[in-house]
Amino acid sequence: MTRTPRDSWDLASSVGATATMVAAARALANEEASPIINDPFAAPLVRAVGLDFFTRLVDGELAAWAADGAERDLQMVTDSIAVRTRFFDEFFLDAARGGVRQSVILAAGLDARAYRLPWPSGSVVYELDQPEVVEFKTTAMSTLGAVPAADRRTVGVDLRDGWPATLRDSGFDDAKPAAWSAEGLLMYLPPEAQDWLFDNITALSAPGSRLATEYHPDSGPTMTERAREFNQRWVNLGCDIDLSGLFYDGERSNVVDYLTGRGWRVTTRPRRELFTDYGRVFPDDEMSQLRNVVTVTATLG
Ligand SMILES: C[S@@+](CC[C@H](N)C(=O)[O-])C[C@H]1O[C@@H](n2cnc3c(N)ncnc32)[C@H](O)[C@@H]1O
Repeated sequence: MTRTPRDSWDLASSVGATATMVAAARALANEEASPIINDPFAAPLVRAVGLDFFTRLVDGELAAWAADGAERDLQMVTDSIAVRTRFFDEFFLDAARGGVRQSVILAAGLDARAYRLPWPSGSVVYELDQPEVVEFKTTAMSTLGAVPAADRRTVGVDLRDGWPATLRDSGFDDAKPAAWSAEGLLMYLPPEAQDWLFDNITALSAPGSRLATEYHPDSGPTMTERAREFNQRWVNLGCDIDLSGLFYDGERSNVVDYLTGRGWRVTTRPRRELFTDYGRVFPDDEMSQLRNVVTVTATLG
């Protein structure tokens, strides 16, 4: 699968299928004996999308894999997404405790935070993603009888384009601090669009705004290799959907340097350290694609 400047998708195709994939991992994490996240919506949303592989995965119908090590791979994927989800959950809850009442979830996919987190009253949660993605989730959640726990506003956009005007039209107030997340997004943006994303966020952020993201410090040619590795991991699990070729190649700005240069106070932690924080084990001999992932939290001003 290759990317083009104006490509678009739903939750069953191209980059959209990765949102379904991540939700499937959350669904599995949710069913664990001692879960570190609580996402009761992940499994029904995956079923609603209807991609056979992911539906069978969340329904426990892929228990007997042919490939050696598949079970271990799946545990790793599940842990990795659970840890990531928990990190962003805590980021938003922390911002809310700090008085922030506008949250912007960039590339929201099948993220159900607007429904499942205990938002303080007066909270507005903006969800940005491709139009078909946000529309699908709204309809599916309504069919499930789910009610948002905050004032949820959907913004159907292409994040490679001029999305700030659409966000403002939805009521976003750039005079008030906001909490922004870019979770599982950056590698799906061309390098220059990653810079625009952070430029736009900075321009829209009042002092005291917060930002959370994660990135892989090894950009450039290794991107293709990582995309291939990422795809192969899922092929090994029996996935018949082609997820290769979705990452954008090319040298990228270093996220920490870029944000620091624009006035953000940045703190980072390797994702594998978060595994320990949340009681999960990161097998260092595995997953070179994940080993160097860095989580970023930043505050403006
Ligand atoms: C791996 S999924 C992550 C979804 C969600 N953040 C999560 O963790 O569950 C990537 C998401 O990025 C969105 N995305 C990627 N590029 C985008 C773009 N140019 N415009 C809008 N959304 C985009 C996809 O539609 C998809 O929902």
